[in-house]
Amino acid sequence: MKRQEYKISFEPTGRQVYALPDTILLEAAAQAGLILQTPCGGAGKCGKCRLKVVSGACPPSANCRPALGETEVAQGYRLACQARIQGDLVVEVPVTSLFESQQQILVQAADLPPGSARALSPGRSASAEPGRPGEMELCPAISKHFVELDMPSQADARSDVERLRTAIRPTDFDPVGIRLLRLLPGLLRRQGFRGTAVIVDGDLVDFEPGDTTSQCYGIAVDVGTTTLVGTLINLKTGLDMGVEAKINPQTSYGDDVIARIRKCREDAKGLAQLQRVIIGAVNEIVDELVRAAGIDRAHIYEIVMAGNTTMQQIVCGIDPSALGELPFVPVFTDAPHLNAADLALEINPCGKVFIFPQIGGFVGGDTVAGIVASRLDRETETVLFVDIGTNGEIVLAHKGQMIATSVAAGPAFEGARISCGMRATSGAIEKVVMDGDLRMNVIGNTRPAGLCGSGLIDTVAELLRLGILDPTGRLRTPDEVPSTTALALRKRLIEQEGHVDFLLAHKTETVSGKPLLLTQRDVREMQLANAAISAGISILLEMEGLKPMDLSRVLLAGAFGNFIRRNHARRIGLLPPIPCDRIRFIGNASSLGAKRALLSVAEKQAAAAIARAVRHVDLSLSPDFQTAFSSAMLFPEDDPGKGCEG
Ligand code: FES
Repeated sequence: MKRQEYKISFEPTGRQVYALPDTILLEAAAQAGLILQTPCGGAGKCGKCRLKVVSGACPPSANCRPALGETEVAQGYRLACQARIQGDLVVEVPVTSLFESQQQILVQAADLPPGSARALSPGRSASAEPGRPGEMELCPAISKHFVELDMPSQADARSDVERLRTAIRPTDFDPVGIRLLRLLPGLLRRQGFRGTAVIVDGDLVDFEPGDTTSQCYGIAVDVGTTTLVGTLINLKTGLDMGVEAKINPQTSYGDDVIARIRKCREDAKGLAQLQRVIIGAVNEIVDELVRAAGIDRAHIYEIVMAGNTTMQQIVCGIDPSALGELPFVPVFTDAPHLNAADLALEINPCGKVFIFPQIGGFVGGDTVAGIVASRLDRETETVLFVDIGTNGEIVLAHKGQMIATSVAAGPAFEGARISCGMRATSGAIEKVVMDGDLRMNVIGNTRPAGLCGSGLIDTVAELLRLGILDPTGRLRTPDEVPSTTALALRKRLIEQEGHVDFLLAHKTETVSGKPLLLTQRDVREMQLANAAISAGISILLEMEGLKPMDLSRVLLAGAFGNFIRRNHARRIGLLPPIPCDRIRFIGNASSLGAKRALLSVAEKQAAAAIARAVRHVDLSLSPDFQTAFSSAMLFPEDDPGKGCEG
């Protein structure tokens, strides 16, 4: 095993990763969790992925000068999609190069008359450029109003509520709920009729002592089957204040949604248990965000959550059993509006919870959030959105319409059900190159502990390229491999009990002191996940009478997607045979969509319109799916797009 990795430090975040020589900078940035803009798909034409090399040698690529100009090149700017890593680097990431920076928030919108957010209509925040996040109004569902009220007197004996209502005009609020009505007289009088009225979604929810108008926060949560990601956002500025991620503790009850549904169906206490642990984990995320930011949790007034249909229903304490049997019906499609107290979420007890609207079957709020984030609903071209997770969600936008489906990919790409599989954390082999022998990149620059999804795809793609793996997914014996196979690679083929395994790392090289093997069984497990996604894509294309080359772009969402080498994903048939520059990474689109909804009422309205507009396709009822799935179990004979850089 040859390992020579370079340290890449990204400023101003200080994130560091280790990358193999010749890795493109874009890939290293993704590994550091920095998703860059790539509107030209990494063709070196748009210049949007520019980064500044502060120290270390990184010669400009051929496209660098035409795209960036002589001055910027002299200042150290490089195209991340083209620059190849040849040594240790310190790189500055301009905020304008980040994918999420396209979410340019119109901060001045916060100065609109209080409450005007409610008057916004869907589409008001529309981006001029389809398919890109573009600008967005900062117009959250929350407004705060500091008031100093006249004391009641014989001459002015208006009710407490009317006194407050008059003072905050033109903002208005709905009839006050009984909880606050009981508290309001005490709050007003203790505070000398001076304080901050808090309106959330049209409801007066609190009257806080003093002027707290600058303290207004919300949390966007991506509720994944495997991972939960929460982002704390300042709703006055629209800026992120912190991000926390946790493994979804429900994984101890099963690693996919089917196992969770089964738990709810078969165990009378199952739903309550699953809801309790996931709410507990979200509360832990809230704790950590609040502590790190040094704010009062009472000033968090809204949580927006986006997840698949099963996760969203369990979060709400709604039995997902009907999703476990034909015709796989979710309980709701419109977004339920809840109070934080309804779900025992530990923010302001009168705070609100927005759960994303759902499309149908297993296509849930996370997909709607992904569409909101990617602006797929505004596409005029033919674009495919693919979110690869335990469940693969696929949406095809064509001629102004969208169709969506979901496939059970299983957790192989997340490292589960693979003998040496692991998540993409420290010790995971995340990149594999075979040139004479095997070279690998290990997250954290440590000894390898296992193989994560991107390393799995790389390994299989490389084995296919070299003819060590045949298109049926069988690992060839040392005698069967092509005569050109390097001896070092040939020696990695271990024959045992009638099959062949491939040695990734010798026992002396690993953390555990045990060898790391890609077994024949692992390849089969991966083929199942690969075929499910691939078949889902081909069925949607067929339904619209399209060929892969009709796709203008493929948007790859999900944390896992960031790490995939596009040419390798295409080589194994996971992605359609199109040029790599049509395949774009868009990061954790579900999380970004949730943030957008938190920041703007109009985005919530857009989400509702999207959920109603997308046509859901249930593949379990499609006679063609099994056929497509069977043929996708075979890997392509050859790379369908040879010559494209990934
Ligand atoms: S130049 Fe367009 S993505 Fe790099």
